[in-house]
Amino acid sequence: MGKPKIVLGVSGGIAAYKACELLRRLTESGHDVRVVPTASALHFIGAATWSALSGKPVSTEVWDDVHEVPHVRIGQNADLVVVAPATADILAKAAHGLADDLLTNTLLTARCPVVFAPAMHTEMWEHPATQENVATLRRRGAVVIEPAVGRLTGVDTGKGRLPEPAEIFEVCRRVLARGASEADLAGRHVVVSAGGTREPLDPVRFLGNRSSGKQGYALARTAAARGARVTLIAANTGLPDPAGVDVIQVGTAVQLREAVLKAAADADAVVMAAAVADFRPARYAQGKIKKKDGQEPEAIALVRNPDILAEISADRARPGQVVVGFAAETDDVLANGRAKLERKGCDLLVVNEVGERKTFGSEENEAVVLGADGSETPVPYGPKEALAGTVWDLVVRRLA
Ligand code: CTP
Repeated sequence: MGKPKIVLGVSGGIAAYKACELLRRLTESGHDVRVVPTASALHFIGAATWSALSGKPVSTEVWDDVHEVPHVRIGQNADLVVVAPATADILAKAAHGLADDLLTNTLLTARCPVVFAPAMHTEMWEHPATQENVATLRRRGAVVIEPAVGRLTGVDTGKGRLPEPAEIFEVCRRVLARGASEADLAGRHVVVSAGGTREPLDPVRFLGNRSSGKQGYALARTAAARGARVTLIAANTGLPDPAGVDVIQVGTAVQLREAVLKAAADADAVVMAAAVADFRPARYAQGKIKKKDGQEPEAIALVRNPDILAEISADRARPGQVVVGFAAETDDVLANGRAKLERKGCDLLVVNEVGERKTFGSEENEAVVLGADGSETPVPYGPKEALAGTVWDLVVRRLA
């Protein structure tokens, strides 16, 4: 098998410079990349740059090398087309099937997965015309990454930034790995919680845990690559925002609960991967707690935190909503897992065995996914994204 063939479409926005970094990542990881810019993209980055970085000829029009029929062949031969940045104009053209240059022709002839990474001003992104075009493209199976929120051209800030090239690259890698027919979460809204809550004792101290958030982020990335609209509720992770994912930062269990309940209101699935503290200090000291000479320290009184998983399982925000929990167990893993699944009332429970070898923060995981229907799906030791894939497979089956 040759290298996977990727077409990198670049349309005319200032973020075109970030596509150079995406191109570098794609080529360095063993992909054969052909860059197809639009004419306006060349106002930002010239053809010489694309050609030198990709090692291939670059043209914007269908009239170059006509004997090779490039307007048909490039799309037909591609394993993946990614358009980054995608302007409002290219989204409109793609949604309506216009074909007035090489990139739009390529989009019409491609039968492989297509990923759009839009970047534009907030007003243009939010305009009903753009939103309807995005909805059309998603309905047809394209992955349209949600733009990031942040600094835009000039002094403006808002939604519309191109996500980081490393994150767009991750989306491409996942979409390529799964193939064309797998935008099986398109049109769905999923909520994932990740990380570990911190329960403050005083302005400088907290009770926390060692959850890294990596499993939750893998779940969010994988869902986005499978076409879902993803809300990621992140508790103290310090990880970069995955591309195309709405990230809400929280600190405590109470804040996490509020954010989850709000996001879950219209969600098709909720996955509680966060490690939520079961207890919080009963009293928060406004000033730093000081040690007193000759005195024993005071005991810390604790109160229970709400059990978010049990709450959303018992009171589903919409019929058919699928709720997934996580459990870390050291002994009697399966029996404890089954009991917890019943106690919490969720549809699926991902049970991890934790122990000395299986440390927090690692890139790998091993688990059994228990279903309320009695099913048991073992997931062998492997990358967290493999476990994420299995979880979404099981969720998709239940949504259908
Ligand atoms: N969880 C939650 N709210 C809490 C505690 C946990 O939503 N206050 C969720 C976690 O996100 C995870 C699952 O419940 O999905 C794991 O629960 P865990 O804390 O392991 O179970 P417990 O019921 O606390 O059981 P135990 O401490 O006895 O193991």
